[in-house]
Amino acid sequence: MKAKIIIPVLFLLSSQAVSANAVDNMFSEYKQSGVTNISEIKGKELWEKKFKNTKTGKLRSCTTCHADSLKKTGKHIKTGKLIEPMALSINKKRYTKVKKIKKWFKRNCKWTIGRECSAQEQADILAYLIKQ
Ligand code: HEC
Repeated sequence: MKAKIIIPVLFLLSSQAVSANAVDNMFSEYKQSGVTNISEIKGKELWEKKFKNTKTGKLRSCTTCHADSLKKTGKHIKTGKLIEPMALSINKKRYTKVKKIKKWFKRNCKWTIGRECSAQEQADILAYLIKQ
């Protein structure tokens, strides 16, 4: 009987530890790249900012696929695939793998802004996202 209770608690603790590690690792990398001041406000601005795509002339932003609220389910503009909410408060599976965070920052900044995001920009955005 006792074991049944202990196992889920341990699982919860370990999954939280994993998510803290990936985010911590990202921030220590940003610091190593010279980032000293991190701004959630700038992160929010960048997340919502609309960039005109040079090829299509259309406006693109992170919210184009990730919905206008981080707590809502988004939808991929091209494939129509649903994208789970980005807010950590309601989606604990977010930001748990360094590889995943890096992959999507790279791909999505390129698609949205037309270039990769700097360490400073990523730090600001991630700081904003994990607080939601
Ligand atoms: C064309 C659609 C699209 C746009 C625009 C977009 N994303 Fe994403 N993003 C995705 C998809 C698809 C995933 C992967 C599926 C998932 O994590 O649910 C993802 C995942 C992510 C992740 C990984 C989250 C995690 O749990 O590790 C980050 C970080 C991210 N996006 C940041 C951004 C930023 C920053 C922008 C704007 C510069 C942006 N995205 C714009 C489609 C998009």
